[in-house]
Amino acid sequence: MPATPFTDPHLIANLYNSPARLVRRTRSLHAAKTRGADAAATITELAAQHTSHLQTVCDIGCGRGSTTLRLATGLRPTKLLALDQSPALLDVAVERCRAAGHAVTPICADFHTLPMPSGSIDLAVAAFCLYHSTRPEAAVAEIARCLAPAGRAVLVTKSADSYAELDELVAAADLDPDATTRPSLYQTFHAANAPTIVATSMTVIEVVEQRHEFRFDDLEAVSTYLATSPKYSVAEHLRSYNRITDELRRRLPNTPVLTTSTVSYIVAEAN
Ligand SMILES: C[S@@+](CC[C@H](N)C(=O)[O-])C[C@H]1O[C@@H](n2cnc3c(N)ncnc32)[C@H](O)[C@@H]1O
Repeated sequence: MPATPFTDPHLIANLYNSPARLVRRTRSLHAAKTRGADAAATITELAAQHTSHLQTVCDIGCGRGSTTLRLATGLRPTKLLALDQSPALLDVAVERCRAAGHAVTPICADFHTLPMPSGSIDLAVAAFCLYHSTRPEAAVAEIARCLAPAGRAVLVTKSADSYAELDELVAAADLDPDATTRPSLYQTFHAANAPTIVATSMTVIEVVEQRHEFRFDDLEAVSTYLATSPKYSVAEHLRSYNRITDELRRRLPNTPVLTTSTVSYIVAEAN
């Protein structure tokens, strides 16, 4: 699989070494969203439809724990594991669950070498994280290894063309003239190739695709999102959110910006 900025191990460690960037990115997307169900709620609904008597649930690549928390409240498993390579994000996930009255066991690990015993997990979730791997099939095989005989996995990603309209905006403003030809951040594991990758070590039971639509009210709103993206090659002095706003305003009309992304949920069981 070809590398993208999202698969560079140093960049990944940097991107997720504190919750701040992730909070800004998620908040700006949520504020702009005009269509599309909440991902954590959809994952929990799918998991509830496809499982029963959940003992051990693991949220892989849990980040700040938004999905972990939803799994805790919606499924009430006997044991909830939250796994991530970022100690800082794990701390946030554990604290958010604890504040809501749910115990969670944090596991700081790489999803290519899961530390859980084979056959020990009833439900594994990996949402918006497997595209950080140049060999997602290896991570999927590890998840399959950890699944109990009747266990299920819910693996979630986005379409490769997600937010393509923003690439056009960045190119039109000359912030990064090559923005439209840069590889998708989701290139290694996206809505179109993910079911095939999952099928290398699991049986795909269901694929649900949901189109999400976004309307950033103005160039300032879109800049808050762009400033969190590792995708573009932007001059160092233009990297801050207000510099990007200034630059966009200098070159483009300050009108709303529309964009889309398709979110793909793959439900699978071990072969
Ligand atoms: C975009 S966040 C997704 C967070 C969460 N699943 C959600 O949906 O809100 C991606 C997460 O994957 C984690 N991650 C990336 N590569 C990883 C790896 N090799 N092993 C474990 N976690 C990884 C990052 O630290 C980050 O927390």
